Amino acid sequence: VRVRVLGAAAGGGFPQWNCACRGCMLARRGEATPRTQDSIAISADGDRWVLFNASPDVLRQIDATRELWPRRSRHSPIAAIVLTNGDVDHVAGLLSLRERQPLTIAATSRVFGGLFERNILLRTLQRFDGHLHWERLQLDEPIALAGLEITPIAAPGKTPVHLGGAAEPEDNIGVLVRGDQRSIAYVSAAGAIGELGTRVEGADALLFDGTFWSNDELSAQGVGQGTAASMAHLPISASLPLFEGFDGRRIYTHINNTNPILIERSPERRAVEAAGWQVAYDGMEVLP
Ligand code: MLT
Ligand code: MN
Ligand code: ZN
Repeated sequence: VRVRVLGAAAGGGFPQWNCACRGCMLARRGEATPRTQDSIAISADGDRWVLFNASPDVLRQIDATRELWPRRSRHSPIAAIVLTNGDVDHVAGLLSLRERQPLTIAATSRVFGGLFERNILLRTLQRFDGHLHWERLQLDEPIALAGLEITPIAAPGKTPVHLGGAAEPEDNIGVLVRGDQRSIAYVSAAGAIGELGTRVEGADALLFDGTFWSNDELSAQGVGQGTAASMAHLPISASLPLFEGFDGRRIYTHINNTNPILIERSPERRAVEAAGWQVAYDGMEVLP
């Protein structure tokens, strides 16, 4: 199985268009590595690929990834798109993937319904019979997709900001993905650890929520009022020690532009690396 990070930033990307925080300015000046918004691609056979989330940057991500280029006049190696929640940074890219190309979307009823029953623009993916195929995801029920076994696991989260309302377990999930003998856990949003510690055991790699370094990061930098907790993201300062017994690669992704781990040589970046974690970047080969 091959696992590639397409985008390692949280919503807004790095740099974010309306942000002049220290990290964003370093990224604009070429002194920090820019990142597009959270998405990964996994393939069992190197031929068919499954995208996990459809970031607003999906077209750039496809262009930057030779394996995702079409092989014939109208074709895509993207066999399916798995959605781990309905947030804009995970779904807006779907609108760029219309073009009369049949699509398989794997999502829970909550996420699929939030998109296709409540957002009229998504009708553009249902222009003809057979345009859209929905694979329903349910917690703890593995499905087979393009040679991969994908198991949704509980990850405490929230509803998308544009939908609001109280969160249910199927509003936000993590996934265990297995192909041949290897597996990966991808949990890019988690407000608490819940049962994740035991569920991800035995995987060869863990990609985990690295949105914020600290709970009050936005207010401390004067760029917002929300806390990490209010946005259902466990800050790195809390998750860093939690997976110490995990044997595989531990990697933070979905990293917000305000997070100091994006600044190489920052004390926070060094602390993360000293604790055995890596910081995802676009194009990273998680399992080559
Ligand atoms: C999040 O990760 O918390 C969301 O992407 C935030 C948002 O939708 O703006
Ligand atoms: Mn997000
Ligand atoms: Zn910024």
